[in-house]
Amino acid sequence: MIVSPSLLSCDFGNLQRDVEMLNQSAAQWIHIDVMDGVFVPNISFGFPILKAVRKHTSKVLDVHLMIQNPDPYLEEFKLAGADILTVHYEACTHLHRTVQKIKSLGIKAGVAINPHTPVSVLKHLMNEIDLVLVMSVNPGFGGQSFISDSFSKVTELKQLIMDLGLPLIIEVDGGVNLENAMLLVGAGADAVVAGNFVFNSENPVDAIEALSKVE
Ligand code: DX5
Ligand code: ZN
Repeated sequence: MIVSPSLLSCDFGNLQRDVEMLNQSAAQWIHIDVMDGVFVPNISFGFPILKAVRKHTSKVLDVHLMIQNPDPYLEEFKLAGADILTVHYEACTHLHRTVQKIKSLGIKAGVAINPHTPVSVLKHLMNEIDLVLVMSVNPGFGGQSFISDSFSKVTELKQLIMDLGLPLIIEVDGGVNLENAMLLVGAGADAVVAGNFVFNSENPVDAIEALSKVE
């Protein structure tokens, strides 16, 4: 299981220390939550933080853009160090164009869907993308409770991906812990984001290790 700890829950006064902790852990990716205060009712951080993180890690930077109309900023996110750029289905009017723009930058393109958005809306885009991010909370905040309907969405998405024979990654974001991670793997998830579960545990490295071994 790919574990992508979310820096939203880290101690920003000790950003370098926390990134170095992740470097020593089993995490393959680092999840970066960018919020604009328009698409979601919260503002997090942007390019300077992403660049600072990039300086201290060679792990895959998994950037989750919770911003309305992200197109004008895609290139700058790539230059700041993003390896994966995930945009929201609900935030892009011409999603196909947005995805093509990300691919033209030579990085992986992901699309996130909110809890109320059905998996089927992505059917005609599956060929173009590398990753689907299933939101298992309403985006905007860390530490929320997992929405259990997400299990069936992952199952449905996995079936769709297998029917199409595509190498798409399924990532789940929001309220992930050891118990639901087990069920998520069973449903077909390849990657999980974990903020609160990692950073509020007594030993984050052990928490990441445990999540990475879930099967
Ligand atoms: C929510 C963010 C998540 C969040 C996850 O809007 O997209 O990535 O940081 O945090 P937890 O794991 O605490 O729900
Ligand atoms: Zn996220």
